[in-house]
Amino acid sequence: MQQPASVPNNIILIGFMGCGKSTIARALHRLLGYPLVDMDAIIENRAGKPITRIFAENGQTGFRDMESRLLEELVQAAESGQIIATGGGVVERPENRAWLRRLGYVVWLCAPPNVILRRTRNSHERPLLQSDDPAARIAELLATREPWYRECAHLRVDTTGLDSREIATGILESARYYFADPAHPRCTQP
Ligand code: S3P
Repeated sequence: MQQPASVPNNIILIGFMGCGKSTIARALHRLLGYPLVDMDAIIENRAGKPITRIFAENGQTGFRDMESRLLEELVQAAESGQIIATGGGVVERPENRAWLRRLGYVVWLCAPPNVILRRTRNSHERPLLQSDDPAARIAELLATREPWYRECAHLRVDTTGLDSREIATGILESARYYFADPAHPRCTQP
Protein backbone atom coordinates (compact mmCIF):
# COMPACT_ATOMS: atom_id res chain seq x y z
CA MET A 1 0.00 0.00 0.00
CA GLN A 2 1.31 3.42 -0.84
CA GLN A 3 2.29 5.55 2.16
CA PRO A 4 1.06 9.13 2.27
CA ALA A 5 3.81 11.77 2.03
CA SER A 6 5.64 12.10 5.32
CA VAL A 7 4.85 14.91 7.71
CA PRO A 8 7.43 17.66 8.33
CA ASN A 9 9.21 17.37 11.66
CA ASN A 10 7.70 20.43 13.29
CA ILE A 11 6.36 20.47 16.85
CA ILE A 12 3.03 22.30 17.09
CA LEU A 13 1.64 23.41 20.44
CA ILE A 14 -2.12 23.73 20.79
CA GLY A 15 -4.32 24.23 23.84
CA PHE A 16 -6.47 26.64 25.76
CA MET A 17 -5.36 30.14 26.81
CA GLY A 18 -3.14 30.02 29.88
CA CYS A 19 -1.96 26.44 29.35
CA GLY A 20 1.64 27.48 28.69
CA LYS A 21 2.00 27.30 24.89
CA SER A 22 4.35 30.31 24.64
CA THR A 23 6.42 29.28 27.66
CA ILE A 24 6.84 25.69 26.49
CA ALA A 25 7.53 26.87 22.93
CA ARG A 26 10.41 29.00 24.25
CA ALA A 27 11.73 26.08 26.32
CA LEU A 28 11.62 23.79 23.25
CA HIS A 29 13.34 26.48 21.20
CA ARG A 30 16.13 26.67 23.80
CA LEU A 31 16.51 22.88 23.93
CA LEU A 32 16.41 22.23 20.20
CA GLY A 33 17.54 25.48 18.64
CA TYR A 34 14.65 25.24 16.15
CA PRO A 35 13.15 28.57 15.10
CA LEU A 36 10.06 29.59 17.01
CA VAL A 37 6.95 30.49 15.01
CA ASP A 38 4.47 32.32 17.25
CA MET A 39 1.27 32.57 15.23
CA ASP A 40 -0.34 35.29 17.37
CA ALA A 41 2.81 37.44 17.14
CA ILE A 42 2.91 37.06 13.35
CA ILE A 43 -0.79 37.96 13.06
CA GLU A 44 -0.26 41.07 15.22
CA ASN A 45 2.77 42.04 13.18
CA ARG A 46 0.97 41.70 9.88
CA ALA A 47 -2.10 43.56 11.11
CA GLY A 48 0.07 46.24 12.73
CA LYS A 49 -2.03 46.11 15.90
CA PRO A 50 -2.49 43.96 19.00
CA ILE A 51 -5.03 41.13 19.13
CA THR A 52 -7.39 43.18 21.32
CA ARG A 53 -7.63 45.78 18.55
CA ILE A 54 -7.98 43.15 15.83
CA PHE A 55 -10.98 41.73 17.72
CA ALA A 56 -12.42 45.22 18.32
CA GLU A 57 -11.98 46.45 14.74
CA ASN A 58 -12.18 43.28 12.61
CA GLY A 59 -14.26 41.09 14.89
CA GLN A 60 -13.50 37.52 15.91
CA THR A 61 -14.21 36.39 12.33
CA GLY A 62 -11.59 38.82 10.99
CA PHE A 63 -9.06 37.41 13.44
CA ARG A 64 -9.97 33.79 12.57
CA ASP A 65 -9.57 34.56 8.86
CA MET A 66 -6.05 35.89 9.48
CA GLU A 67 -5.26 32.86 11.64
CA SER A 68 -6.50 30.35 9.03
CA ARG A 69 -4.64 32.14 6.23
CA LEU A 70 -1.39 31.98 8.19
CA LEU A 71 -1.87 28.32 9.05
CA GLU A 72 -2.54 27.45 5.42
CA GLU A 73 0.61 29.33 4.42
CA LEU A 74 2.64 27.35 6.96
CA VAL A 75 1.28 24.09 5.54
CA GLN A 76 2.03 25.17 1.98
CA ALA A 77 5.55 26.32 2.87
CA ALA A 78 6.13 22.72 4.08
CA GLU A 79 9.12 23.73 6.18
CA SER A 80 10.60 21.39 8.74
CA GLY A 81 12.33 21.90 12.07
CA GLN A 82 10.13 24.59 13.62
CA ILE A 83 8.39 25.03 16.96
CA ILE A 84 4.94 26.43 16.19
CA ALA A 85 2.91 28.08 18.98
CA THR A 86 -0.75 28.56 18.07
CA GLY A 87 -3.53 30.65 19.61
CA GLY A 88 -6.04 28.80 21.80
CA GLY A 89 -8.86 29.06 19.25
CA VAL A 90 -6.98 27.74 16.23
CA VAL A 91 -8.93 24.47 16.52
CA GLU A 92 -12.29 26.19 15.99
CA ARG A 93 -12.31 25.72 12.22
CA PRO A 94 -12.36 22.15 10.88
CA GLU A 95 -9.93 22.95 8.06
CA ASN A 96 -7.44 24.26 10.64
CA ARG A 97 -7.68 21.01 12.57
CA ALA A 98 -6.71 19.04 9.46
CA TRP A 99 -3.89 21.47 8.62
CA LEU A 100 -2.42 21.21 12.12
CA ARG A 101 -1.93 17.46 11.67
CA ARG A 102 -0.28 18.02 8.31
CA LEU A 103 2.25 20.39 9.89
CA GLY A 104 3.86 17.84 12.20
CA TYR A 105 3.66 16.51 15.75
CA VAL A 106 0.75 18.16 17.57
CA VAL A 107 1.01 18.56 21.34
CA TRP A 108 -2.04 19.58 23.36
CA LEU A 109 -1.10 21.49 26.51
CA CYS A 110 -3.88 21.46 29.07
CA ALA A 111 -4.63 22.47 32.66
CA PRO A 112 -7.71 22.36 34.91
CA PRO A 113 -10.14 25.34 34.72
CA ASN A 114 -9.09 26.75 38.12
CA VAL A 115 -5.44 26.83 37.02
CA ILE A 116 -6.40 28.49 33.72
CA LEU A 117 -8.42 31.08 35.64
CA ARG A 118 -5.52 31.83 37.97
CA ARG A 119 -3.04 32.16 35.09
CA THR A 120 -5.26 34.38 32.94
CA ARG A 121 -7.01 36.45 35.63
CA ASN A 122 -4.79 39.52 35.31
CA SER A 123 -4.44 39.50 31.54
CA HIS A 124 -6.19 42.18 29.53
CA GLU A 125 -4.84 40.85 26.26
CA ARG A 126 -7.37 38.08 25.76
CA PRO A 127 -10.61 39.54 24.39
CA LEU A 128 -12.54 36.28 24.83
CA LEU A 129 -11.95 36.31 28.58
CA GLN A 130 -12.99 39.94 29.18
CA SER A 131 -16.19 38.92 30.90
CA ASP A 132 -17.92 39.59 34.23
CA ASP A 133 -17.70 35.87 34.87
CA PRO A 134 -14.42 34.60 33.36
CA ALA A 135 -14.77 31.24 35.15
CA ALA A 136 -18.05 30.55 33.35
CA ARG A 137 -16.55 31.73 30.06
CA ILE A 138 -13.57 29.39 30.49
CA ALA A 139 -15.87 26.45 31.33
CA GLU A 140 -18.06 27.13 28.30
CA LEU A 141 -15.17 27.52 25.85
CA LEU A 142 -13.35 24.48 27.25
CA ALA A 143 -16.45 22.31 26.88
CA THR A 144 -16.72 23.28 23.23
CA ARG A 145 -13.06 23.04 22.39
CA GLU A 146 -11.80 19.99 24.27
CA PRO A 147 -13.07 17.48 21.68
CA TRP A 148 -11.31 19.54 19.00
CA TYR A 149 -7.99 19.60 20.84
CA ARG A 150 -8.36 15.84 21.35
CA GLU A 151 -9.10 15.34 17.65
CA CYS A 152 -5.88 17.13 16.61
CA ALA A 153 -3.40 16.02 19.23
CA HIS A 154 -0.78 13.30 19.04
CA LEU A 155 0.15 13.95 22.67
CA ARG A 156 -1.62 15.56 25.65
CA VAL A 157 0.39 17.12 28.47
CA ASP A 158 -1.00 18.65 31.67
CA THR A 159 1.16 21.66 32.52
CA THR A 160 -0.07 22.11 36.11
CA GLY A 161 2.85 22.39 38.49
CA LEU A 162 5.49 21.03 36.13
CA ASP A 163 8.56 22.98 35.22
CA SER A 164 8.80 24.14 31.62
CA ARG A 165 12.16 22.54 30.90
CA GLU A 166 10.90 19.23 32.26
CA ILE A 167 7.79 19.42 30.06
CA ALA A 168 9.83 20.41 27.00
CA THR A 169 12.21 17.48 27.53
CA GLY A 170 9.27 15.06 27.74
CA ILE A 171 7.71 16.45 24.57
CA LEU A 172 11.00 16.17 22.76
CA GLU A 173 11.38 12.51 23.71
CA SER A 174 7.87 11.67 22.45
CA ALA A 175 8.39 13.68 19.26
CA ARG A 176 11.59 11.75 18.55
CA TYR A 177 9.71 8.43 18.79
CA TYR A 178 6.99 9.78 16.57
CA PHE A 179 9.32 11.00 13.84
CA ALA A 180 11.49 7.89 13.98
CA ASP A 181 8.69 5.34 13.56
CA PRO A 182 7.50 5.02 9.95
CA ALA A 183 4.50 2.91 11.00
CA HIS A 184 3.32 5.62 13.33
CA PRO A 185 -0.24 6.97 13.02
CA ARG A 186 1.18 10.06 11.29
CA CYS A 187 0.16 8.13 8.17
CA THR A 188 -3.51 8.37 9.05
CA GLN A 189 -5.03 11.77 8.58
CA PRO A 190 -7.88 12.72 10.96
C1 S3P B 1 -7.60 32.97 21.57
C2 S3P B 1 -6.38 32.78 22.22
C3 S3P B 1 -5.29 33.75 22.16
C4 S3P B 1 -5.39 34.58 20.89
C5 S3P B 1 -6.76 35.19 20.77
C6 S3P B 1 -7.86 34.14 20.70
C7 S3P B 1 -8.67 31.95 21.71
O1 S3P B 1 -4.02 33.09 22.20
O2 S3P B 1 -5.12 33.81 19.75
O3 S3P B 1 -6.96 36.04 21.88
O4 S3P B 1 -9.63 32.01 20.93
O5 S3P B 1 -8.55 31.09 22.61
P1 S3P B 1 -3.43 32.37 23.53
O6 S3P B 1 -4.05 31.01 23.60
O7 S3P B 1 -1.97 32.31 23.26
O8 S3P B 1 -3.76 33.23 24.69
